[in-house]
Amino acid sequence: MSPKGWELIDQASRDGWHPAISEHIADVYVRTSRVAERGYVPDGELDAMRPGDYLESWHRRLGSPEPHATWVAEVNGEVVGFCYVEPSLDDDAAAATGHVDMLFVLPERAGRGIGARLLAEGVTHLRTFGFSEATLWALARNHRTRRFYEREGWTAADARKRYDHEGYAVDLIRYVRPLSAQD
Ligand SMILES: CC(C)(COP(=O)(O)OP(=O)(O)OC[C@H]1O[C@@H](n2cnc3c(N)ncnc32)[C@H](O)[C@@H]1OP(=O)(O)O)[C@@H](O)C(=O)NCCC(=O)NCCS
Repeated sequence: MSPKGWELIDQASRDGWHPAISEHIADVYVRTSRVAERGYVPDGELDAMRPGDYLESWHRRLGSPEPHATWVAEVNGEVVGFCYVEPSLDDDAAAATGHVDMLFVLPERAGRGIGARLLAEGVTHLRTFGFSEATLWALARNHRTRRFYEREGWTAADARKRYDHEGYAVDLIRYVRPLSAQD
């Protein structure tokens, strides 16, 4: 346990992540989304989210070989946050573009540096695997999250996309970060 009361665990360091860790990650994903996406996504959609709906995709992510990678933050053995990175799947991405696909910290654990540390692990990992830049997509209207990424050295790019779902849409903005060997 770190002096801050939480510890970071990377996928490679722990055997037997499946299937229990998928359940914990899916649970954090749903609990965090319900709070963080309120006002952007209809209440009905958020309230209908169930961790079980995300287990299969997490089994797939956790079973993907490096450079795909996942970290979780734990407090007293409870998963409170996670980060998942992979090569970018964007149509316009260069081969050397890595992607922070997900970064979530439970609202009641936010503001303690956990997100910044998880993000730093993801960035370091992508650099180690030879990616020259990293990207992520943020909710365009979520200025608090955007400020967080900007503080962590990310820059808003001139690229947006719309996630269209039944009855609602959310606009996402791309953030980029060069991964020079020096930083
Ligand atoms: C954005 C997020 C990953 C930051 O994690 P964190 O552990 O709170 O981050 P840190 O403690 O390292 O940094 C705190 C900063 O994050 C930002 N932040 C964004 N959302 C926040 C929230 N709900 N609570 C607290 N801080 C938040 C603030 O800028 C804060 O700085 P401030 O205290 O000076 O305002 C986390 O709040 C989160 O999971 N939010 C919801 C999901 C999300 O938007 N994920 C990113 C898109 S996939």
